[in-house]
Amino acid sequence: MKTTIKIGIVGLGRIGKNHARNLAQRVRGAELIAGSSPVAAEREWAGKELGITRLYENMESLLADKDVDAVWLATPTSLHAEQIVSALEAGKHVFCEKPLALTEAECERVLAAADKYASQTVMIGFMRRYDPAYVEAKRLLNNGDLGRLFRLHCASLDAIDTNGFFVDFAPTSGGLFLDCSIHDIDVALWMTDGAKPVSVSATGIRAMYPGLAACNDVDTATATVLFENDILATFHASRTSHHGDETSLQLVGTDASLALGVGGTPVSEVSVQKGNANHSDRVVDFFGRFEQAFVLEAQAFVDAISSGDTLRGRLLEAQAATRIGVAMREALEQQKIVNFDN
Ligand SMILES: NC(=O)c1ccc[n+]([C@@H]2O[C@H](COP(=O)([O-])OP(=O)(O)OC[C@H]3O[C@@H](n4cnc5c(N)ncnc54)[C@H](O)[C@@H]3O)[C@@H](O)[C@H]2O)c1
Repeated sequence: MKTTIKIGIVGLGRIGKNHARNLAQRVRGAELIAGSSPVAAEREWAGKELGITRLYENMESLLADKDVDAVWLATPTSLHAEQIVSALEAGKHVFCEKPLALTEAECERVLAAADKYASQTVMIGFMRRYDPAYVEAKRLLNNGDLGRLFRLHCASLDAIDTNGFFVDFAPTSGGLFLDCSIHDIDVALWMTDGAKPVSVSATGIRAMYPGLAACNDVDTATATVLFENDILATFHASRTSHHGDETSLQLVGTDASLALGVGGTPVSEVSVQKGNANHSDRVVDFFGRFEQAFVLEAQAFVDAISSGDTLRGRLLEAQAATRIGVAMREALEQQKIVNFDN
């Protein structure tokens, strides 16, 4: 097995720069040797800040670089499926930011390519799985501290954007549920060991960004999912948080409940609640909140390649998450309950 995995990153925007810094400086066994972006200023940034010399205007040129072992995609969501397939066809391992894709058909296409190129690793960027607080929540749950889990509530709240980013970003994002709640859906699948969804309903509004109407998106929404074994989950997402970014999880079992990151509670700690919860008003943005998780996620990708682990089980979970996200969008747009045919 290779000891150094040579990586080429595609997309050097908001999250791409964050990943590029980590890959260049903080991941054992990784070497960031190439980058690609159609934006000249982003390529210049990678050259100046990180000393990358192989900088390509398009992904095809990066894929043709024989020294690149693995491709790291931090590109608009609408491109994910197509780019994952191209990278696999070029013989590369692939990391791709969430979500896997925007439709079930696109997911199938990626899974078919992954089957064909069966020795290559594919990982989707659900970094909460590497966050120590979420890991601790899962440990407590597995340990039986909560009893039988029957209720989850997840919230992903973005600080208010005054620069128009959310409106510009929306047309390629898949909408609020596939963009934001997809992390929480993945967490729910993780916490429930892959429970199958039974039905979904959803409601949403445009409270602060009328421009989202152009792509029929909303800025505040809640979806309710009934999972098998009577597990009820709610997913709240919003771009309108006055107190800043919030990523929170509440689990309720027959013996105890657990809360993480709720309403500005200390973000890196888990509090198991049997009486009153304690709160503080400390809030950071999501890059800061998940700084460690992003590094651990990158390390896990590199380690998986080094050890020959293709992470196929995780790819199937990413497909399951997209399926639920698509159903949420359908429930919202058509104002109907979507039942799953399991
Ligand atoms: N894990 C997380 O918490 C998290 C957070 C933010 C974004 N994301 C995901 O990361 C992805 C990128 O989001 P972002 O906020 O960085 O967006 P962004 O718009 O800031 O960056 C997108 C990048 O892709 C490049 N790009 C555009 N078209 C391209 C093409 N055809 N080929 C190659 N590169 C192209 C752009 O130049 C830019 O560098 C999205 O899928 C998003 O869902 C994940």
